[in-house]
Amino acid sequence: MLLSPQAERNWEGLCAVLEDVLQDQSHRHLFALELGSGTGQHVIRFAQKMPFVTWQPSDIKEESLDSIKAYIAATNAKTVLQPVHLDASELWEKWAGLSRNSCDVIVAINLLHYSSFKTAKGVFSGAGQLLRQNGLLIIYGVYAINGTITPSCNEQLDAELRKMNPDWGLPDIDVLRQLAYGNGMRMERMIEMEEYYRCLIFRKL
Ligand SMILES: C[S@@+](CC[C@H](N)C(=O)[O-])C[C@H]1O[C@@H](n2cnc3c(N)ncnc32)[C@H](O)[C@@H]1O
Repeated sequence: MLLSPQAERNWEGLCAVLEDVLQDQSHRHLFALELGSGTGQHVIRFAQKMPFVTWQPSDIKEESLDSIKAYIAATNAKTVLQPVHLDASELWEKWAGLSRNSCDVIVAINLLHYSSFKTAKGVFSGAGQLLRQNGLLIIYGVYAINGTITPSCNEQLDAELRKMNPDWGLPDIDVLRQLAYGNGMRMERMIEMEEYYRCLIFRKL
């Protein structure tokens, strides 16, 4: 079972955002896909707080899939499906057999700055196909805005990420907004979180 200290710090804030944006739909059963689930710490907490949602975790790494399975077993989570291998940079047709208009919510936490622009493009084009009308794409992370990264701790994080992998780094909110628009979604809200992190909420039109 993997343990991410950051996930231990941020899951409560993320739960609050999800509960807030989904509260008007809590009378019906929802289906949520999580991309790049990592350890599995988030999805099991989300399931405990929002039992009206069936959660589908996913990742590209085998060790993540094993860890997610261990969290599901340890918490006896009934509304979390077994994790699937899903590479978000691929075309949605390769996304673990998920079908068009099957998701009410797609969540990606700390995925886009730890992956290439191809993944960002994949996330938005996949979400454009998989989300139902009015479905939500929720992206948590750190960003550039209009080509500028502030404050200096985020500049430093961007430099560190690019040193680890030249294709990684903070994505630009304006570029993500355009990707959303090109895939039938629009950015509805930007929620300030801790330590200059933000949740971006996109809605399928
Ligand atoms: C920084 S971790 C974040 C994990 C978790 N969401 C969290 O916040 O604790 C990024 C995760 O994204 C996964 N990942 C990277 N590229 C991916 C891709 N193209 N498709 C799906 N998952 C990917 C990695 O394997 C890793 O588990």
